[in-house]
Amino acid sequence: MITASTSSTPGAGGTPDRQGSLDGTEEEEPARARPWYELVSGRRSIRRYGPAPVPAAVLRRILTAACWAPSAHNRQPWRFAVLTAFAEKDRLSRAMGERLRADRLADGDPREAVERDVARSYARITEAPCVIIIALDMADMDRYPDKRQRAEHMMAVQSTAMATQNLLLAAHAEGLGACWMCAPLFCPQTVAEALDLPKGWQPQALVTLGAPAEPGKPPSRRALENVLWRPDRG
Ligand SMILES: Cc1cc2nc3c(=O)[nH]c(=O)nc-3n(C[C@H](O)[C@H](O)[C@H](O)COP(=O)(O)O)c2cc1C
Repeated sequence: MITASTSSTPGAGGTPDRQGSLDGTEEEEPARARPWYELVSGRRSIRRYGPAPVPAAVLRRILTAACWAPSAHNRQPWRFAVLTAFAEKDRLSRAMGERLRADRLADGDPREAVERDVARSYARITEAPCVIIIALDMADMDRYPDKRQRAEHMMAVQSTAMATQNLLLAAHAEGLGACWMCAPLFCPQTVAEALDLPKGWQPQALVTLGAPAEPGKPPSRRALENVLWRPDRG
């Protein structure tokens, strides 16, 4: 039975959690679905990696899986910039670090703490064997002259997030670790300029990828009942 639990990994073999069940149905998931549930609940954000490069064929499979995500109007607005060379990762993380330093100092944060965070961010990006910048491009989305454009842009954001989730799950299925980092959202122009991204690409996220050098933080999720509203039940 797949359940939502705050303390254990849900899915086949997990501890049954009646609190998370719908209608108290205790039916087992079909055997064919079990590997998928295990995959989804077993993925963790991995933030440290071994030095081995990600093989090109694996990378291609992962990115292809990302492209199988659903998207609004099937316009597939996701774009990916793949960085494996140190020089590219170094250029990107230095540029992002400068921006982070400026923002944090302007916030009035202590310089020592700021420098620590800048150094940590630099290490996380440059030490990952592979870094993928996730961007979106509005070129093929519909255009509106009014506030509907905001919804259209949001649909591109949502579609791109779905592709990124596919990417994370595919990486996990391949035995790799990955972590979504939101930093590009705070400095999209800096990222676009540092990498000379194609015109129109709007950086949304950065995913680090490599052989896991840690198990990730223990899983935790809110119980399903805490995020579920069923009008018919009150
Ligand atoms: C939109 C989004 C932004 C995130 N940004 C960061 C980030 O900047 N740094 C980081 O270490 N993890 C980031 N994460 C990963 C989350 O911290 C992680 O998914 C969450 O703590 C649950 O852990 P799990 O992925 O291991 O299940 C982000 C995840 C998402 C979906």
